[in-house]
Amino acid sequence: MVKQTQLFELQSDDIAQKLTFYSSLEKLNQACIRCDRCFLSQKRHQVVIARGETQPDIAIIGEAPEKKEDKLGQPFVGDSGKFLMKMLQAVKLDPNVYFTNTVRCRPPNNRKPSAEEIKACKPYLIDELRLVKPKIILCAGATAVAGLTGKRESITSLRGKWLNWEGTAVMPIFHPAYLLRNPSLQKDSPKWQTWQDLIAVKLKLERISALKSHRC
Ligand code: URA
Repeated sequence: MVKQTQLFELQSDDIAQKLTFYSSLEKLNQACIRCDRCFLSQKRHQVVIARGETQPDIAIIGEAPEKKEDKLGQPFVGDSGKFLMKMLQAVKLDPNVYFTNTVRCRPPNNRKPSAEEIKACKPYLIDELRLVKPKIILCAGATAVAGLTGKRESITSLRGKWLNWEGTAVMPIFHPAYLLRNPSLQKDSPKWQTWQDLIAVKLKLERISALKSHRC
């Protein structure tokens, strides 16, 4: 029998997963556009809010906007983004994707965002994921994994191993900018490993979708 205290834990856990500060993505994005919670807000041209499908199969979290994203106000529209899209298309994961970042403003000279900057932006990331409810989350690079899950390890040791965030499967992958700098396609190269990771994501997505349609 479930004890009263266990019941409370179950309920509060369940509620915690669903509560969002912002009641809609529109409200969240409006707050992001006005945001001045960290130093990056002083340096940006524009806030880079997420783009893509709002009931996605997959949400991809990057590290931070780069120059082109800062100019256009959209995530993953530069060289890294184009390459990421090519990889997703190759495994037919491209049609239903939501793109976002660990921080929404470009760090000067594309430096890594600081712990304070990541912390300041985290409530937006958590809320948007709770609102769009992706079936699977892809974290591109170690900063995205640490930003979402708090796990601080190298991406070499994290990639390819499933993690869990609020009941959603999370796959860490190499950042596309790193793959552009490491073009080898040989067995066990970063690109080859990413190919394996994306195939694992594709298979898991098929299993999740089959389970969901079985339940309906
Ligand atoms: N563009 C983004 O939006 N995020 C990244 O992490 C890299 C490029």
